[in-house]
Amino acid sequence: MENHNEPLYLYPVWIRLWHILNALFCLTLIITGLSIQFSNPTIMVKFRAAVAIHNVAGVLLSFNYILFFVGNLFTKNGSYYVFEVNGFFSRLKTQFHHYTIGVFKKEAAPFPVTLESKFNPLQQFSYVAVMYVILPLVILSGLGLLYPEITVNSLIGISGLDYTDLLHLFCGFMVTIFMCIHIYFCTFGKTAISNFKSIINGYH
Ligand code: HEM
Repeated sequence: MENHNEPLYLYPVWIRLWHILNALFCLTLIITGLSIQFSNPTIMVKFRAAVAIHNVAGVLLSFNYILFFVGNLFTKNGSYYVFEVNGFFSRLKTQFHHYTIGVFKKEAAPFPVTLESKFNPLQQFSYVAVMYVILPLVILSGLGLLYPEITVNSLIGISGLDYTDLLHLFCGFMVTIFMCIHIYFCTFGKTAISNFKSIINGYH
């Protein structure tokens, strides 16, 4: 039987390395992305520098994503991202209730962390959405903007580049929102900083 006081090794070195690089690249992309979007008057980074840094960080984030994808494909970590669809919505509701009410009444977590399931249903849903839908869309649309010749010429009279741009902006915005909510929910550990320590030293 598992002893719940014993630290669980949940974040192998490769996932910690991927995560820190991913966080740094995302932060860089958000700051330079906003600087490109609001370039007149310039906010934060000058337009030309922002474009150059954004392109390099985007390519590096894409290679780093391959590490995440392949790592999850071939190691046990991938199993945490697979969930039973049956009853998932009701489990999501239970977790949401815990985050909004239970936590403040100091109630026990409805889905305690174990070696078999390291994410609660809300984490599972948001991590799958951001890692397997939103981030791939940001990467693919970014690739389309970097190499416009690979995008569709036009669709119902509107340039394919416009659609690609809109998709890229929308998904980039979603990643930004995810990151803010993600960091806030990460403070809901045993102490406010225990989850942040875990993603650095590997132990929950
Ligand atoms: C400064 C920015 C960030 C901080 C401080 C942060 C913090 C954390 C912490 C404390 C954990 C461990 C708790 C848990 O397992 O839920 C974690 C896990 C995770 N984070 Fe972040 N995060 C950041 C940015 C991001 C971004 C930008 C993404 C995705 C776009 C992301 C995706 C994930 C995923 C998928 C996991 C689970 C990894 C696994 O164990 O398989 N994080 N993060």
